[in-house]
Amino acid sequence: MEALKTWQARQDDAFVVSYPKAGTTWTQEIVSAIVNEGDLEQINKSHTEFRVPYLEATFLSSTKEIHVPPTHEIVDKMKSPRTIKSHLPGHLLPPDVMKKKARIVYVARNPKDLAVSCFYFRKVNPFRSQDGEIVYGSWWNHYLYYWNLRHEPNVLFLKFEDMKKDLKGTVERIADFLGYTFSDDVIDRIVNHCTFGNMKANPMANPDTLVAKVIEAKLRHMKNGAEEVADSNDNVAPKDRPSFMRKGEVGDWKNHFTVAQNEAMDELIREKLAGSGLVFEC
Ligand code: A3P
Repeated sequence: MEALKTWQARQDDAFVVSYPKAGTTWTQEIVSAIVNEGDLEQINKSHTEFRVPYLEATFLSSTKEIHVPPTHEIVDKMKSPRTIKSHLPGHLLPPDVMKKKARIVYVARNPKDLAVSCFYFRKVNPFRSQDGEIVYGSWWNHYLYYWNLRHEPNVLFLKFEDMKKDLKGTVERIADFLGYTFSDDVIDRIVNHCTFGNMKANPMANPDTLVAKVIEAKLRHMKNGAEEVADSNDNVAPKDRPSFMRKGEVGDWKNHFTVAQNEAMDELIREKLAGSGLVFEC
C-alpha cells in the first residue's frame, strides 16, 4: 500500500475497479476482450488473472524458493495498453490513476446479491470479517466514492443488473468509453465470449483453478502460524467449495434472506445511499 501511493499509472491504462463480488471478473473479461479487439485466440492464450492483474494483491508463492514480486511491479513491466484490476476504495487507489486520467470501469451490484455472493465466496476464500470490519471496508463507502466521480470523463459507472439486462449494450458502451469502434461481428463475438455459461466453461476465464491454488497457499501460510485461522468455517474442504462462477444471477438474495433480514437490509440501503441518487432496482 505504501508503494502504491506513488505508483505511476499510464494515460492509456484501463482499470476495472469494484467492491469484491460485484462482477469484477465478468467486467475484466469484457474489457480484456475489447482491448484485444475480440481476438479470441489471443485472449484464450492466457488466464484472465494474468491478462488483467490484481494491482494491490501480492500472491504467496507455492514454494519458498520462488520469489513472487508484488503485482504492481509486474504491472510496471507490462506493455501498453494495460488492463488492470483493483478492489481499492477510492481514497486508496494510487492518486496517479486519476491524475493521468487513466480510464476506470467501475462495477457495482445490488447489496443483497453482493452479500449472498460474499457469503459463498467466504467458503472459497477465508478472508476475515470481524466486528463490522471487512476487507476493502463497507460496500456503501466504496460505491459512493466512485459514484460521485461518475461524471468524470475517465470514469464509467456500471451496475451488474444492467449488464445482465443488456450484455450487448454493455459491451458497446465499454468499447465506446475505451475508444474502440467494432463491427457487429466483433461485438457479437465478445458478447458470446462473456456470457456466464461460456466464461464458466472457459478455463482461461473461470478463476476456479487459480483461486484453488491461491487458497491452498494461503491456508498453508495460516497453518504455519503466520496468521491465525479466523474460525473453523474457514477450512472448507476443496470438494465443498462453491465454484467462483456460482450462479451469476440477479435476485438470488430472495432464496437466502429472511423477511427480517430483508427489512434490515432495505433500511441500511436507504440510510447509507440517502440523497446520493444511487439506487438499485432489485
Ligand atoms: P454469484 O456468486 O452471485 O454467482 P467478482 O468477480 O466481483 O468476484 O464477482 C463474482 C460474481 O460475478 C459471482 O456471482 C459470479 O458468478 C458472477 N459472474 C462472473 N462472471 C459472470 C458472467 N459472465 N455473467 C454473470 N455473472 C457473472
